[in-house]
Amino acid sequence: MVSTPRSNWKFRRQRSDLNRWLPPAYSYKTILMVLWLVALISFFLLQKDAASWFRFRPERSIPRLRPVVFNLTDFGGIGDGKTLNTRAFEKAVLAISKLAGKGGGQLNVPRGRWLTAPFNLTSHITLFLAEDAVVLGVQNEKYWPLMPPLPSYGSGREHAGPRYGSLIHGQNLRDVVITGHNGTIDGQGQTWWKKYKQKLLSHTRGPLVQIMWSRDIIISDVTLQNSPFWTLHPYDCKNITIRNVTILAPIFGAPNTDGIDPDSCEDLVIDSCYISVGDDGVAIKSGWDQFGISYGRPSANILIRNLVIRSIVSAGVSIGSEMSGGVSNITVENVHVWNSRRGVRIKTAPGRGGYVRNIVYRNLEFENVRVGIVIKTDYNEHPETGFDPKALPILEDISFTNVHGQGVRVPVRIYGSPEIPVKNITFRNMSVGITYKKKHIFQCSYVQGRVIGTIFPAPCDNLDRYDEQERLVWQSTRRNFTNIDYDI
Ligand SMILES: *[C@@H]1O[C@H](CO)[C@@H](O)[C@H](O)[C@H]1NC(C)=O
Ligand SMILES: *[C@@H]1O[C@H](CO)[C@@H](O)[C@H](O)[C@H]1NC(C)=O
Ligand SMILES: *[C@@H]1O[C@H](CO)[C@@H](O)[C@H](O)[C@H]1NC(C)=O
Ligand SMILES: *[C@@H]1O[C@H](CO)[C@@H](O)[C@H](O)[C@H]1NC(C)=O
Ligand SMILES: *[C@@H]1O[C@H](CO)[C@@H](O)[C@H](O)[C@H]1NC(C)=O
Ligand SMILES: *[C@@H]1O[C@H](CO)[C@@H](O)[C@H](O)[C@H]1NC(C)=O
Ligand SMILES: *[C@@H]1O[C@H](CO)[C@@H](O)[C@H](O)[C@H]1NC(C)=O
Ligand SMILES: *[C@@H]1O[C@H](CO)[C@@H](O)[C@H](O)[C@H]1NC(C)=O
Ligand SMILES: *[C@@H]1O[C@H](CO)[C@@H](O)[C@H](O)[C@H]1NC(C)=O
Repeated sequence: MVSTPRSNWKFRRQRSDLNRWLPPAYSYKTILMVLWLVALISFFLLQKDAASWFRFRPERSIPRLRPVVFNLTDFGGIGDGKTLNTRAFEKAVLAISKLAGKGGGQLNVPRGRWLTAPFNLTSHITLFLAEDAVVLGVQNEKYWPLMPPLPSYGSGREHAGPRYGSLIHGQNLRDVVITGHNGTIDGQGQTWWKKYKQKLLSHTRGPLVQIMWSRDIIISDVTLQNSPFWTLHPYDCKNITIRNVTILAPIFGAPNTDGIDPDSCEDLVIDSCYISVGDDGVAIKSGWDQFGISYGRPSANILIRNLVIRSIVSAGVSIGSEMSGGVSNITVENVHVWNSRRGVRIKTAPGRGGYVRNIVYRNLEFENVRVGIVIKTDYNEHPETGFDPKALPILEDISFTNVHGQGVRVPVRIYGSPEIPVKNITFRNMSVGITYKKKHIFQCSYVQGRVIGTIFPAPCDNLDRYDEQERLVWQSTRRNFTNIDYDI
């Protein structure tokens, strides 16, 4: 409790009033008794750690979301942050897997710190994380199972061969919900990031939550933090909603901790999330080079909106660089990117194949961002085995409407190449406050498209200009002109 000088003064006054009415001996006894009580209470406080002290706060009542509800403690779970709860989670999941025909089951994870090794989910499960419930990933990689590489990647993203599975994993499921009163799933990635940097790992790190070949998934009202690798990875899934999720990792020194990576997914919504991580906030993908091309599963019909993102190392919202199965019909709207390296980025390279088309960006706000809008066609990271350099991705039909912000150094950098030109790009109603008053901060190369109305800063000469009524005012003859300058 905060006591203001005023209430202190009142208290002192009351005490001196009291002294006037009590015999002196009695007040000594009172002082002794108070001291004794203080000692006793301190003793009990020291006995209990901070987590159990929380129990004195009444637990928020948890809604019933399935016909049958379990508590992790029903299966022997111990939330002391030290005991492994893998068996408890597995038993709970097994019990719920038997309720498939009866509407499934809900597993409540109460307040506490629940250390666990990776475990698998089942269909028709609702995992409910109470307020102050923290599921902790065990740090020793011996507990993390190895799994075959994703078919559309052919190998692990960091090492050839198998990869570590995710802390919370699901395959071939339907109707899965992960929700709560903002409870947390914490991958304790610190040891993984350190080992990765010291090159002590021989397999690709595992994501925090990975759901594969599944449909009808909801992830909402939870916090995901300190993932060893990508945080939330829906892979080849359909009908997924990710809402009101907080995703956190250190903004430096937490390599590849992307927030959300929709990968070969269809019908996906990401809404109202706060993301501050050590790599891309959101990165839409669809497989890697020859493996992604032959797997051939695009990411399509994705709506991303109402996000606040910080990414010092990479970008707020990315598409690629693995996009070999194609990416189309993506809407990114009401996205605020702050204190970041880049706002939004499309990245690809020769060898990827596939396409990125029909992409709509609307109502973007950049605040203290080095480069606002980036398209990069030479992102040359490839699997170890031979990719086809002639597999050229197509980039087309991309529009930016209502782009605003302040403190941006280079508002636009569109790097198309003779092999991968950027086609049919549209800018409309853009005004970005810049920090660097130099020409060529709207950088282009091999790009064809148009600007509608006036925009700030002045667009590159590669783009045609239209007035507000969409009448052609000026036609570019310099589409292949290049003024990319990475030094700004
Ligand atoms: C789970 O069980 C524990 C121990 O019995 C209890 O303290 C807690 O309130 C229960 N929580 C829920 C959400 O049922
Ligand atoms: C989860 O299921 C997959 C597929 O059956 C399996 O490969 C993986 O080892 C399982 N993970 C765990 C932690 O049991
Ligand atoms: C978002 O999550 C917070 C914390 O769990 C909750 O208080 C709030 O009601 C949620 N917002 C919506 C719109 O569901
Ligand atoms: C949820 O918890 C995270 C981490 O503890 C916190 O940063 C975030 O503000 C909380 N979200 C809400 C809506 O209370
Ligand atoms: C998508 O998933 C949600 C949540 O499971 C479900 O309610 C909805 O019916 C699904 N929509 C379609 C089109 O399958
Ligand atoms: C494009 O995606 C949106 C969801 O963002 C969906 O409603 C719409 O039907 C999709 N359009 C096509 C042509 O598939
Ligand atoms: C250019 O892209 C816009 C969407 O941004 C689309 O409406 C239009 O049809 C495309 N034009 C051509 C010639 O493909
Ligand atoms: C342009 O953006 C401003 C600021 O967001 C907005 O007030 C205005 O309505 C937009 N104009 C159009 C034509 O959308
Ligand atoms: C510009 O580059 C494109 C793609 O490389 C090519 O097809 C086109 O002929 C070039 N145009 C000019 C005027 O050089």
